[in-house]
Amino acid sequence: MTWNSLLTEPAAPPDAIELLDLLIAATPAAGPPAPTPQSELVQGLQSPQAGLSPKYFYDALGSRLFEAICELPEYYPTRTEAALLRTHAPSMAQSLPRGAVWVDMGAGNCAKAEQLLQTLGSGACAGYCAVDISVDFLHGALQSMRHRLGAAAAWPMRALGLDFSQPLALSTAVAAHGLPGPAGAPRVVFYPGSSIGNFSPAQALALLQDWRAVAAATPGGGLLIGVDLSKDRQELVAAYDDALGVTAAFNLNVLRRVNALLGADLNPKDWAHRAVFDEAHSRIEMHLVAQRDVTLHSAHLTRRWAAGEYIHTENAYKWSVDRFAQLLQHAGYAAPQHWTDPAQRFAVFWAPAA
Ligand SMILES: C[S@@+](CC[C@H](N)C(=O)[O-])C[C@H]1O[C@@H](n2cnc3c(N)ncnc32)[C@H](O)[C@@H]1O
Repeated sequence: MTWNSLLTEPAAPPDAIELLDLLIAATPAAGPPAPTPQSELVQGLQSPQAGLSPKYFYDALGSRLFEAICELPEYYPTRTEAALLRTHAPSMAQSLPRGAVWVDMGAGNCAKAEQLLQTLGSGACAGYCAVDISVDFLHGALQSMRHRLGAAAAWPMRALGLDFSQPLALSTAVAAHGLPGPAGAPRVVFYPGSSIGNFSPAQALALLQDWRAVAAATPGGGLLIGVDLSKDRQELVAAYDDALGVTAAFNLNVLRRVNALLGADLNPKDWAHRAVFDEAHSRIEMHLVAQRDVTLHSAHLTRRWAAGEYIHTENAYKWSVDRFAQLLQHAGYAAPQHWTDPAQRFAVFWAPAA
């Protein structure tokens, strides 16, 4: 399936995964059409300081490289969040609605939802919608999850290919296509992995507002979200610049995406991975630094970088518990609850939608 494809398979047998690919189609009726990946890439690469959205890391290879990152000793967020979800599941169960439809944003390999739903036990979930831009990888991950859970997961499941960074993407998709599971069920929007850190505070606010509208459409819903916290600079930089070079490969993979989407001729060997902490913005930045003078040729653009110039490929904002709680309330959620690890590395928030 291609990035541009629109594929709906509504007639799925009961134990199969419904696949709904809205990567291009989920544009609100009012407002400008969503930009194409090509136009977004060209705009980013033409900027005086070239930059790309981190969503372009994720094709099937990028998703696998991210899974490998999660195994690295330096990459504490995945382990820490998984431990929080395990340790505090009984306390979370007191607050989370039963019989809910779960909407897993940026689900990736769906491992965190699978772990949590198993720990919460039967009755927690009445439908599961895994949302990701890397739709082929997601579909495979969900089929594996269905297979592993077997009879323990009798609820309907959907893999939804969606770029949720587009304005109102989730609420538009849900208004048009609904969610798997009972219509009036509470909705839990689940956003683990601290992927909210890829968005600036203003962008994060817009996302959280859109998702609140989805969660508030039926009584009892809310947002369960994992957030990486500010900490020692060395620990942060190591998490994004591991000794094996897996994060470097993940970062460089975006050049393959640029070549594939724009018919361009970038050579990963001409670029080096760099991770820096920007104290003023409380964010890790990932860059690709030109190792010699490089010229990109494509039918869409020509761009030259001198040796030492760079492409900005990711931001990962780090929050404090108080500032993130304020952001949630500013987005319209009720006062959130949160759970953290003893070292205060990471926090999971439950924010009721109303
Ligand atoms: C950091 S990974 C987290 C994966 C998983 N949730 C976890 O916690 O391990 C981010 C995930 O979000 C997806 N993603 C990134 N940007 C996206 C976007 N704009 N729309 C939809 N999915 C996106 C990626 O494909 C990837 O699976």
